[in-house]
Amino acid sequence: DMGGHDTYMHKEIFEQADAVDRVLRGRIDDRFSTVHLGGLNLDAREARGVRRIKILGCGTSYHAGQIGAQLIEELARIPADAEPASEFRYRNPVVDPDTLYVAVSQSGETYDVLAAVQELKRKGARVLGVVNVVGSAIAREADGGTYVHAGPEVCVVSTKCFTNTVVAFALLALHLGRIRDLSVADGKRIIDGLRRLPEQISEILAGEDEIKRLAAEYADAKSMMFIGRVRGYPVAREASLKLKEVSYIHAEAYPASELKHGPLALIEPAMPTVAIVPDDDLLEKNRAAMEEIKARSGRILAVAHQAQEKADHTIVVPKNENELDPILMGIPLQLFAYHTALAMGRDIDKPRNLAKSVTVE
Ligand code: M6R
Repeated sequence: DMGGHDTYMHKEIFEQADAVDRVLRGRIDDRFSTVHLGGLNLDAREARGVRRIKILGCGTSYHAGQIGAQLIEELARIPADAEPASEFRYRNPVVDPDTLYVAVSQSGETYDVLAAVQELKRKGARVLGVVNVVGSAIAREADGGTYVHAGPEVCVVSTKCFTNTVVAFALLALHLGRIRDLSVADGKRIIDGLRRLPEQISEILAGEDEIKRLAAEYADAKSMMFIGRVRGYPVAREASLKLKEVSYIHAEAYPASELKHGPLALIEPAMPTVAIVPDDDLLEKNRAAMEEIKARSGRILAVAHQAQEKADHTIVVPKNENELDPILMGIPLQLFAYHTALAMGRDIDKPRNLAKSVTVE
């Protein structure tokens, strides 16, 4: 049942305010400015002993994990990084007893992730799951974890599960942070930010008509560049994946700082750039990158907290706490990919060559 929407992708994009509400529900502890994640199976003493966090996933779940790693570093000050599960399992990684491994998957059935989890467990590592489908293989195999409560996701192109997974990571980061050095005041600041998300998501989705108009404006592109830095970079990567999957337009994502080390050579009017420009301490750096693109007559669509002078168009999104901004900045670009694909007559819910869960190697 698509509930009045023409595609599952559209329906699932529009379910995000409710989905985020669901992942937050019952977990916030205002008394201690923290959150409770029932299924982690990691007590406070064990959590304090974690020296490093390694997040493993594929595709969109890997991108959500990249934002998750940044959230964990920022809020809990535990070194963290994300890696594609398939790369990890084939490079004979050093498995360290003080590292906490986190497997991320919507379906909970992705073979490369499951195989990585099994190899880790065999070596005695502790593995948590951040999974959407309850009772799935990865959820069962993990030592504990948290469900992301996005609800069923039917479209091959993941949208609401990405957003909910990042929110689940924010909860995990807050929980770990408050066991370690995150202050009560900062815990409260993040909780207040999380509570604002559902309304801000609705606000972004209410701008659909404008995003649709912009999608038509850029639909002639043969190829698009997506740039961002630090918090904005995984957002750029995910937005670029969305566009290629559903519209088949070639897209690539680069850290804005890497432009001048090569990809700037590609910039010309036929290669527009989508720039993720949060209003944080890197704003000036991002403006400088847009200036470099403009100087090569590149067209720029910015996603930012206020209209960007250097950009041809800006999608303005509501501001949250700096750490939580990436959660919101990807959402208009889901709609951008959707409307681009729709205008091109693509098979939105089942893009060619792709399957919803990749249960083979
Ligand atoms: O079910 P999973 O989250 O483990 O799936 C991982 C990827 O196959 C998946 O995210 C894929 O990249 C999607 N088609 C993205 O929209």
